[in-house]
Amino acid sequence: MAEGYIAFFDSGIGGLHLLSEFHRRCPWQPSIYFGDNENAPYGGRGEDEILRLARAAFEKICRFPVRAAVIACNTVTAECVDILRREHDFPIVGIEPAVRPAVRFVREGDILLLATRATLASARVRKLVSGIGGRSAIIPYCPANLAGDIEKAAPDFSGLDVGACLPQGKFAAAVLGCTHYIFLASQIARRLNCPVFDGVAGTVDYLLQIANICSKNPPKIDKISPIFIGNSKNKNRMLFEELF
Ligand code: DGL
Repeated sequence: MAEGYIAFFDSGIGGLHLLSEFHRRCPWQPSIYFGDNENAPYGGRGEDEILRLARAAFEKICRFPVRAAVIACNTVTAECVDILRREHDFPIVGIEPAVRPAVRFVREGDILLLATRATLASARVRKLVSGIGGRSAIIPYCPANLAGDIEKAAPDFSGLDVGACLPQGKFAAAVLGCTHYIFLASQIARRLNCPVFDGVAGTVDYLLQIANICSKNPPKIDKISPIFIGNSKNKNRMLFEELF
């Protein structure tokens, strides 16, 4: 087994979905999680500020020996994954809106892409959407304050009503292009009456490939709990344990 941690980073709680999927598949692989909950949400911030916060997060992560890092935040991936890749010598995987799987699935009708303002405005995501082709139109939409409301509500999301922040219309599928929205996936699917897609499984598949981790034939060692770092480590650990 190669040495080092798989480091997960999100603006807050959203990345716990990726950590949890990864840990379910590779419970023996040491991992760390940094959620910048104090500064969440990132999605309404400018490009320079997001880069500054992401660099500060990587500084914390790099106090550990890192084997690979996962930007478990669509907003940070969209704004600065290429810069962070140039600044670090370990592989960095970033989550992106799962537009391609949605396009493959849909036979007819529009696809709603829900994401933060910064994600939708980024050159990376605009390129992804315009280059996708297929039969469906992709309709980008930023649900006002939703990531921040989810961050604040954690760990009890039952009081949140997504109805008010979703657009009217009929969609064949919706893409959850923000990892925070995944906490409300079933509510969003019910409300829009269509299937929802997220990039969690695809990102973890890719991580396993590039970090050269085999999720089959686990080594004969006990499972290792992830290490949570940062000021909100207890909140994130608690939510991870609920998800897992
Ligand atoms: N979880 C993040 C994402 O996937 C961002 C939420 C935010 O901080 O605005 O985009």
